[in-house]
Amino acid sequence: MCGIVGVTGTKQSVSVLIEGLERLEYRGYDSAGIYVNDQTGNDYLVKRVGRISNLKNALTDDIAGTAGIGHTRWATHGVPSEVNAHPQFSADERFYLVHNGVIENFEQLKQEYLADVNFVSQTDTEVIAQLIDRFVVDYKMDTQSAFLKVLHLINDDSSYAFVLMDRETPDTLYVAKNKSPLLVGIGDGFNLVASDAVAMLKQTHTFMEIQDKEVVIVKPDKVTIHDFEGNEMKRDTFRVDMDASAADKGTYPFYMLKEVDEQPAVMRKLVQEYLDEDGRPTIEAGLLNEMKKADRLYIIGAGTSYHAGLVGARMFERLTKIPTQVFISSEFAYEQPIMSEKPFFIFLTQSGETADSREVLVNIKKQGWPSLTITNVPKSTLSREASYTLLLHAGPEIAVASTKAYTAQVALQAILAKALGMTCDQQAATEFDLKQQLGIVAVGMQALVDGKEKLESIASRYLSEPRNAFYIGRGIDWSVALESALKLKEISYVQAEGFASGELKHGTIALIEEHTPVIGIITQDRTAGLTRSNLQEVVSRGASVLTIAAKHLAQPDDTIVLPDVDPLLTPLLSVVPAQLLAYYTSLGKGLDVDKPRNLAKSVTVQ
Ligand code: M6R
Repeated sequence: MCGIVGVTGTKQSVSVLIEGLERLEYRGYDSAGIYVNDQTGNDYLVKRVGRISNLKNALTDDIAGTAGIGHTRWATHGVPSEVNAHPQFSADERFYLVHNGVIENFEQLKQEYLADVNFVSQTDTEVIAQLIDRFVVDYKMDTQSAFLKVLHLINDDSSYAFVLMDRETPDTLYVAKNKSPLLVGIGDGFNLVASDAVAMLKQTHTFMEIQDKEVVIVKPDKVTIHDFEGNEMKRDTFRVDMDASAADKGTYPFYMLKEVDEQPAVMRKLVQEYLDEDGRPTIEAGLLNEMKKADRLYIIGAGTSYHAGLVGARMFERLTKIPTQVFISSEFAYEQPIMSEKPFFIFLTQSGETADSREVLVNIKKQGWPSLTITNVPKSTLSREASYTLLLHAGPEIAVASTKAYTAQVALQAILAKALGMTCDQQAATEFDLKQQLGIVAVGMQALVDGKEKLESIASRYLSEPRNAFYIGRGIDWSVALESALKLKEISYVQAEGFASGELKHGTIALIEEHTPVIGIITQDRTAGLTRSNLQEVVSRGASVLTIAAKHLAQPDDTIVLPDVDPLLTPLLSVVPAQLLAYYTSLGKGLDVDKPRNLAKSVTVQ
């Protein structure tokens, strides 16, 4: 949450900051601001409420600088307003600070060191800017020492990514992070820092990692890193070969539609990355041997990633016979269940930065348990901190509503389950022709996205008016119902619920009234008839019923018919119409599909 960019050493700093912020807008979009300094005594601070476009419109030609910092905000402390937008600054207007995260002890710091200061904002960030100023001006410390002193005063529960500028040293960015993402971009005669590599790809493909609790000094021609004890740290650079255009919308009206359309290609990419010519998984033996030792697998995730885990658990149990449990990360973090003797943890996270999931990872590492992160973002926090990483290779997912990351998570869990099952000598795993099945999935997904007009008209007919909607299914279809309902509610604001079909009549059926949409997902032989009966029950009470059914179970009046595929892989197909129904419902209501209200893509606060 919140996006940060900083640059030093280029006269183009305003455009670099704005382009970077536009790339980071998915991280928060309630207000934005920049501070630039031209090193000849001129500096500028511009902030606006709302989207980056508002900030852009406020910029005039005279606003220029050779270094600067920018921020796009998802409010934690204080309402979205210009006063609370970042950069925050000290009362003497010497220090300018952008921050992503939460300073848990900011009230104590305020009382202890700044009781005489008048604060203009409600933010925790202003406290840090004022505190640095206090140590520099009143305690005569140099800026770097004051910055370090303040970092030491911030308690360990806090999260931050900071970029600080001092008017007295305007070519220098003072940088630090703890739990929130931030990395350095190495340019030719200039350097950058940002929350995500995509914000810097137009300027560079060479990056340097920042670890938690380091102080990084970024100048136009030099980057130095020290740990909190003052030891200089050596750090290699790494390349990200992604094309900047991979994060562009192209001709699509919204990222979400582009990302839904990319799903067949993502399936093929995963086959290419993780299965050999003969369809054998190529996952590293070290990981599989470690997992084989486990007496239970624990899958941890939030939101859509949790829903992908619900599907994955079924795959692991069927193909490996290792008991598998799935947990919402924010629940597991504070109420750890009685654990098995030899647990192995699988973290599912598109961003690799979700604070709730990271909290679990930190806790289980302290208990000495091994872990794997399955993520879309190389070098992300959860990737760095887990024992192993598998990448989703889905390409940047920018829309807040996760689509291709979900299907990539499901497909990669299938590959991992097959690989682990084979390591455990499970016949079902050996016989599972996943390469062929994922090929069928890719073709089926393509047919579904090619037929999207039908979903547009269904969305406008059934979902544009009602307040409530339900997705129902049993077993693996229930898992997809949960994800489908989340998609619909987060971008169209229809109150949607995913329900186990059999559970509806135990209370929730009271909500069914004339024309309430109920969408049944029917892909499993054993439960198809039961779900159809449950749909009949709601038809009798006035519901408008739609069905998403597998071909071999289809009936003439089913709404969407899916190609047949192995029963474990049906979620890869049944979720696609649900994604498109959500998209078109949101579009039909004139909403900003990619940036729904109150949300941000990467949830880096607990
Ligand atoms: O990056 P993560 O996968 O860890 O994010 C977890 C959730 O915040 C995320 O899946 C969220 O639920 C989606 N935006 C929903 O579409």
